[in-house]
Amino acid sequence: MKPAPFDLAARSAEAIELTRLALSSVDDRNDSADYLSRVTALPGLISLGIEQDERLAGVAIGWPSGATNWWADQVRLVMTFAGTDSWLAESFELAELHVHPEQQGRGFGGALLHALAETIQQDRIVLSVRAHNTRARGFYRRHGFIELTEAFGFGKDAPMYYVLGATLPLR
Ligand SMILES: CC(C)(COP(=O)(O)OP(=O)(O)OC[C@H]1O[C@@H](n2cnc3c(N)ncnc32)[C@H](O)[C@@H]1OP(=O)(O)O)[C@@H](O)C(=O)NCCC(=O)NCCS
Repeated sequence: MKPAPFDLAARSAEAIELTRLALSSVDDRNDSADYLSRVTALPGLISLGIEQDERLAGVAIGWPSGATNWWADQVRLVMTFAGTDSWLAESFELAELHVHPEQQGRGFGGALLHALAETIQQDRIVLSVRAHNTRARGFYRRHGFIELTEAFGFGKDAPMYYVLGATLPLR
């Protein structure tokens, strides 16, 4: 059960469902990762999975900064304010990292993160995480991520997030 690339175009529905399941315990917004079916042709896309019984039990999905500006445009202002916007250049945007609720705490998330770090050409990973997702924040901290912003919302009355970043090699 080692992380390996999987075909996101062929398995986007499975990855979206895994994301929904993984986030259901930590996210009250019923946030959907439906967009994953629309990013499958992004240049430099990386989708790594851990499989159990031929089903995805964990995924790590992202792309090089600049492959899409959607997320960077959302966070640039708050990162500029924090003096950390240079992290957006030539970094890898980790869009989704999720492990099936029944498989969490068994090292899958850490294995996916480290496999990703070995796969990417950039030497920095950036991501955003819900402020109230203390478990994920602790997980990322243990792997060497630091907070690159104060807590902020993506819009009025929106939930709070932090942008995190790590320089490779990870811890
Ligand atoms: C955050 C997440 C991806 C981490 O994945 P994971 O597989 O649970 O992570 P790991 O098992 O590598 O490490 C997590 C914990 O397990 C412990 N652990 C690691 N390997 C272990 C093993 N072999 N046996 C028992 N425990 C282990 C770690 O010490 C760590 O402790 P914690 O409970 O204090 O966090 C996962 O919990 C998840 O999908 N959460 C819901 C969705 C989410 O928040 N995604 C991130 C959004 S940005």
